[in-house]
Amino acid sequence: MADAPPSSSSSFPADRRPLLERLSAAGAAVPHLPLADLPTPLGELVLADGCSFWLKNDGAAAPVYGGNKARKLEWLLAEAKAQGAAAVRTTGAIGSNHCVATAIHASRVGLRTELVQTPQPLNEHVRLNILAASCFAHRMTLVGGYRGVAPAMAWARLTDLFRRQRTYPIPMGGSSVTATLGYVNAALEFAEQRARIGSAERLRIYLASGTCGTLAGLIVGLELAELEAELVGVRVVDEAVTNEAVVAGLVDGTWARLEALGLKRPAARVSWTLRHEGFGEGYGIGTREGAAAQAELALHGLKTEGTYTAKAAAVMLADLRAGHAPAQATVFWHTLNSQPLLTALPHDALKRVPAAYKPFFEVLR
Ligand SMILES: Cc1ncc(COP(=O)(O)O)c(C=O)c1O
Repeated sequence: MADAPPSSSSSFPADRRPLLERLSAAGAAVPHLPLADLPTPLGELVLADGCSFWLKNDGAAAPVYGGNKARKLEWLLAEAKAQGAAAVRTTGAIGSNHCVATAIHASRVGLRTELVQTPQPLNEHVRLNILAASCFAHRMTLVGGYRGVAPAMAWARLTDLFRRQRTYPIPMGGSSVTATLGYVNAALEFAEQRARIGSAERLRIYLASGTCGTLAGLIVGLELAELEAELVGVRVVDEAVTNEAVVAGLVDGTWARLEALGLKRPAARVSWTLRHEGFGEGYGIGTREGAAAQAELALHGLKTEGTYTAKAAAVMLADLRAGHAPAQATVFWHTLNSQPLLTALPHDALKRVPAAYKPFFEVLR
C-alpha cells in the first residue's frame, strides 16, 4: 500500500462549460467539478515538408496532470462525491495514464484512490506513471493479467464492507456514460473555436482510441453542436476492448442520458471510423511508424508517446502524406498529459513504490 499522497492544489479554475449551459437552459443539472483549465488551445502545426494539421491540445487541460482523462474526471469525481463516496476504485495497466490522472485529481477533491493493475511492457513513461500512482493512490494491487482483475475487484468490494467504505467504481480508461460528458463538452468547446480553421468544407479529426469514451463523447458533442465532421479513432488497445460496438454503446447510452435530461438529438449523424492498422503487435508495444511520428513531432515541440498518441499521429500523417481528401482540414486531438509530472512528485517518490512494483525499478547489472 502506498503512503499518504502529497497534497495537490485545491483551487479550481472556474471557466465556463458549454454543456452545463445547455443543460441549465433545459432546466437540468448534472454533478460537475471544474477540475480542468478549459478551453484548451487550437492552433495550426506546419511540419518541415509543408504538411500541416490543426492541433487541439488537451495536454495542459488541468493543473498537475492534463490529457484527456482530466475532462472525464470532472464528471466522474463529481458523481462520486454526489453519491457520498469516500474513495474511487479503478483499473488499468501499470503505465495507465488514466490511473495516474484518477489518483491525482481524486486527491484534489479529497477522495482516496484504489488501483488494481496489470503488467505491461516497461519503458520510461510506464515507470514514471508507477512512481506517480505510488505517490497519489492509497492502495495499489498488482495482478498477473486481465483475468486477475475481476477477482481482485470482488475482493476489494468485500473489504469495503469490513472497512465501511463507500467506493465509487470507475471503469478501465475512465470510460462510462458519465465520463463521456467530458468529451461532449469538449466537442461543444471545439465547435466554438472551429471558425479559426476557416472555410474548409469538412473536418477530419484524428485521436487515439482505447476504451472509446473520448471518441464517443466527441461523436455525441459534435452531433449536439450540429457540426459536420468525420472522426477517426486510431485503435491502440486489443480489439476486444476497442471496437465499433463499444463506441456505439457509449454513444447511445450518452444520448439516452442527455435526452432524459431534456436535450434533443438532431437528425444529422456524425460519421466516424475506427482504424486498426496502426496498432502493431500489441498494447504498449511501439511501432516503427509511431516512433518516426514521435521523433518528427518532437522537433516541433509536440510530445507524444508510443502507446497512444504516437500511433494515432502516425496514421494521421500517413493519410496526409498519401494526399487523402485534400479538401478537408485535418485536426489532431492530442490526449496526452504535457504537464511536468516528475516535478510534481515528492523527492522520496521511489520509496513510496509498493513492494510488488519494486522489481520494475531494478537496474540490470
Ligand atoms: C494519452 C491517451 N490518449 C488516448 C487514450 C484513449 O482514450 P479512451 O480510453 O477514452 O479511448 C488514453 C487512455 O488511457 C490515453 O492515456
